[in-house]
Amino acid sequence: MASPIWKGDMTPLTDPFGRSFPYLRLSLTEACNFRCGYCLPDGYQPSGSQYFLTVDECQRVAAAFAAAGASKIRLTGGEPTLRRDFTDIAAVVAAVPGIRTLAMTTNGYRLQRDVARWRAAGINQLNVSIDSLDPRSFAVITGSDSLHQILDGLELALTLGFNAVKVNAVILRDYTDHDWQAFLALVRDKPLELRFIELMQTANLSSTMLQQQQSGERLRNRLLAAGWQPVSKGYDDGPAEHYRHPDYAGRIGLILPYGRDFCDSCNRLRVSARGKLHLCLFGTHGVELRDLLQQDEQQLLLLARIRQALKEKRISHFLHEGDAGITSHLAAIGG
Ligand code: 5AD
Ligand code: SF4
Repeated sequence: MASPIWKGDMTPLTDPFGRSFPYLRLSLTEACNFRCGYCLPDGYQPSGSQYFLTVDECQRVAAAFAAAGASKIRLTGGEPTLRRDFTDIAAVVAAVPGIRTLAMTTNGYRLQRDVARWRAAGINQLNVSIDSLDPRSFAVITGSDSLHQILDGLELALTLGFNAVKVNAVILRDYTDHDWQAFLALVRDKPLELRFIELMQTANLSSTMLQQQQSGERLRNRLLAAGWQPVSKGYDDGPAEHYRHPDYAGRIGLILPYGRDFCDSCNRLRVSARGKLHLCLFGTHGVELRDLLQQDEQQLLLLARIRQALKEKRISHFLHEGDAGITSHLAAIGG
């Protein structure tokens, strides 16, 4: 592919509130083989065209954002590793000049089998979703019996020289407290980051699932009481809070979208697997980019459209008002 000719506005992307966006989350598919109760309780149901972004389209998205200052891209989904060309996409995105962090989020199902290949393709940060460390609870939450296999994959990942390995756990009333000691044991010896995420309301979230919602502030208080110390934020940390403890090799992160000022440090934009730009996880329809992803020569138009869209970015989500907008579940635009 010929490299695009960059002539035009290459200044970093910013919004009307002075936030800049060094971080792009790129969804590769809406499909997932798990059935997490808060996301795809009935499993993935294909709807509309299943024609997700091609390798070339992913490359053009990455190149455009990188030209406007993005240095980090996360490949996400759905479950991105269900794509047979996943490592091809990782390799072309890793090769885009300016991309220093290439991260991915996975449910871990293929971790043990494929993580070495992902690393070799250029992924340097890995997030694995594990909501419970009890195999039976894990199976209830995800519909998959694969906890042991995922934990073995995690061990392997820790030997492969990733810049960071993170475990995401959604805070669930019936599970998180129950597993608390097991979660702490996970970070005692392993140099990974365990991140607890408040369950966010989406349009499809059932009332039973909504009852699982619990504020993460309890966890913050518990960590502080047990001697965990807040770590001050790095400039491109985004909305997560971090905690360390002298007796633990790993660290803990809290992602509390219902907390105060969460959106002030928003540093990310999203592109869906169908090629729409989403300014926020919640409440927006998305701006079509796909018509401008067909040729390298369209890159300046693409960037102009992204800049124009950013003028509409809102100060915050409206989750506090119970407004999840039109977001049906996070697999649709990349969690
Ligand atoms: N609230 C919070 N996290 C969610 N995820 C999916 N749906 C939700 C939700 N409604 C998380 C997954 C995974 C990441 C990709 O997004 O558990 O950790
Ligand atoms: Fe799949 Fe992630 Fe949704 Fe679970 S949360 S169903 S692993 S996309």
